[in-house]
Amino acid sequence: MDRPPLAFISKAGEPVMVKPLDEARAKRLLDMYLTYEPRNSFWGLPPLRDDACAAWVEGMMKDGINLIALSFDHGVVGHVGLFPLTPDKCEMLVAVAPRHQNTGIGTELVRYSVQLAYELGYTNVWSPTETHNMRMRHVLEKVGFSPQGTGGGEVDMAIDLDSYRDPARTRVSEIMNPRVITAFETTPVRELVDIFLKNPIGALPVINDQRDVVGIVSQTDLILPGRLDRLTRDVMTHNVLTICAECSLNKAIRLFSGKKVRCLPVVDANRRLLGVLGRKDILAHYAHRGVAVRRGSRSQPSPPPHIAATTAETSPEQRIS
Ligand SMILES: CC(C)(COP(=O)(O)OP(=O)(O)OC[C@H]1O[C@@H](n2cnc3c(N)ncnc32)[C@H](O)[C@@H]1OP(=O)(O)O)[C@@H](O)C(=O)NCCC(=O)NCCS
Repeated sequence: MDRPPLAFISKAGEPVMVKPLDEARAKRLLDMYLTYEPRNSFWGLPPLRDDACAAWVEGMMKDGINLIALSFDHGVVGHVGLFPLTPDKCEMLVAVAPRHQNTGIGTELVRYSVQLAYELGYTNVWSPTETHNMRMRHVLEKVGFSPQGTGGGEVDMAIDLDSYRDPARTRVSEIMNPRVITAFETTPVRELVDIFLKNPIGALPVINDQRDVVGIVSQTDLILPGRLDRLTRDVMTHNVLTICAECSLNKAIRLFSGKKVRCLPVVDANRRLLGVLGRKDILAHYAHRGVAVRRGSRSQPSPPPHIAATTAETSPEQRIS
């Protein structure tokens, strides 16, 4: 697996690098688990006996996609493995060497492995977690996992990667509203009031004769006293945040989340107005596509080979699609 490493500074101030596990470092991963204190601490792992521990690590190397966190001074300090369960779905196991826990390494390992699973085309990453393991549950939730069901002392945590793939693939032009009401700079404010009273909109783009977007005007711009007898150009906002029709939905979501914008005029490469995008258009897209998590169709995955047999024997998993 050819992948650039991820480098970061842990909360303990140590430089750490996350990279794929190769044969040369397999021994160091085994060392991390052989010196893990106490053994048998999560899902009965790492196995108590050294030979069982070595066989377990060997099995993970054979069946999984493994990443390690490397510290310059302490060697391998963390490990995450992705184990394919079906062509769409993989299971994740993560562990950080005890003296390095709670310093941000687990979070980075989970983030990096989820990104990798996404790039490899998986739609779902599953991570059964012991109910009492609040730290792991917190890390998983922080990265975007959510509980799918509980039982037998464990909670099934999963992340639906399709819901991330869709916004990356969807173009703004596919979901924008092309029927847009506009104003000119010379439109009297009284006419704008009329438009706002008759249409369920909060703001509208202002264009010139070439349909270039030159401003945006909202109801807020009109409620200030003394504005009724003015022209649109006197009250509008001149610096307009627009979005290009070819941009991804992801970019629009980032703009809506980060800035206080009501709607985004959608423009072509020459800044000519093509349509408008509001939060409701995004919600309508989700609703039509059924992106929202659908619960219900249960399947029972076979117990993962890397988790002790005492565990997920019957753990129900709720499929999300
Ligand atoms: C679970 C584990 C992988 C997390 O890795 P880590 O490097 O310790 O975690 P991080 O330092 O990245 O993050 C810990 C987060 O949990 C929070 N946390 C710590 N203890 C917590 C607790 N008891 N309850 C809730 N949150 C807790 C921390 O505040 C931190 O959150 P923040 O970054 O938002 O402040 C690691 O602790 C570990 O290896 N545990 C043993 C093995 C294991 O349980 N693996 C999971 C089974 S697959």
